[in-house]
Amino acid sequence: MKTTAPDISTNYLGLRLRSPLIPAASPLSEHLDGLLEMENCGAGAVVLHSLFEDPYEKRPGHPDYYLDEIRAAREALTIPVIASLNATTLEGWINYACKIEQAGATALELNIYNLSLDPAVPSSHVEASYVEVVKAVRQATVLPLAVKLPPFFTNLARMIAKLDEAGADGIVLFNRVYQPDIDLDTMGPRFSLRLSMAAENRLPLRWLSLLYRQAHVDLAGNTGIRSGADVLKMILCGASATQICSVLLQRGIPWLMEIREELEQRMEQCHITSLRDARGLLSRQDDEAPAIIEREEYRKALQGYSLIDVPSWREEVPLPSDPRMTAHTTKTASRSK
Ligand SMILES: Cc1cc2nc3c(=O)[nH]c(=O)nc-3n(C[C@H](O)[C@H](O)[C@H](O)COP(=O)(O)O)c2cc1C
Repeated sequence: MKTTAPDISTNYLGLRLRSPLIPAASPLSEHLDGLLEMENCGAGAVVLHSLFEDPYEKRPGHPDYYLDEIRAAREALTIPVIASLNATTLEGWINYACKIEQAGATALELNIYNLSLDPAVPSSHVEASYVEVVKAVRQATVLPLAVKLPPFFTNLARMIAKLDEAGADGIVLFNRVYQPDIDLDTMGPRFSLRLSMAAENRLPLRWLSLLYRQAHVDLAGNTGIRSGADVLKMILCGASATQICSVLLQRGIPWLMEIREELEQRMEQCHITSLRDARGLLSRQDDEAPAIIEREEYRKALQGYSLIDVPSWREEVPLPSDPRMTAHTTKTASRSK
């Protein structure tokens, strides 16, 4: 008997997407060929690489090259084209957003990267600067707006509520902050970009689950999403869509088809016929007093620690052959049972 494929369509930023798979902003979206391949491999939308307002930005034809890319993408693709902007001044946010809108982008993602190291600046000022950007862009354009956030806010729930009030339609959880390494040969920083690992998707998963019921904006999961199972988990925790980057840089754009296939298989195994109906099913319930439960689970996780729970750690760091360590490991594992 032929079964019908599960419905993986979703709504994001007021747009109907045929699938929740969105290649995140990256060099893969710098060329039309890449964008077409994303569409052919099942993407529900694409996010273009960011346009930067930067005095050191030396790309020829800045910012017109970017506007041309938007026009070309809109002409060639049938799926939504989400532009991405990273500006430094309020005028820059407004001017570039208006140009992006005129060029025909379907929506705009604000990639706000505002690192404050001044101890005299209270965190409320930093947070207000995010809100100010969203308000200004909201007033200047009618584009559906997503805000891509870093994970480090004292009260993320309030931050999201404020961005919602300011006019954001969606929040991307999370941007991955840039973390240079130290090179002991040159005794200096090593400015290389490390791609994400699957273990990192626990961070967006947790926050999606905690914030889904109180957020009145769409949430997109981002960071460490590599498989169809990862996508389904994000949706179950409350994401409307998922953004994927590192695994596509590593395995190529056609990996999207593998993700889609696994997503459908996992949905069938879990008896889920529609992704929209499944959204948020495993998020924290309102009546659960999430903060108290989280603290209790944190305590249990620390006290019930066992090496069995950290297979990725075991893969990366071979277990020491020191018998004292083995004895400790066995003891810890049996204590947690
Ligand atoms: C090489 C590279 C270039 C990126 N360029 C951008 C960019 O232009 N704008 C942006 O908002 N994010 C950019 N990102 C971040 C990704 O869009 C994404 O948010 C991040 O990598 C987390 O997703 P992942 O874990 O699937 O890689 C870039 C990431 C990489 C690895």
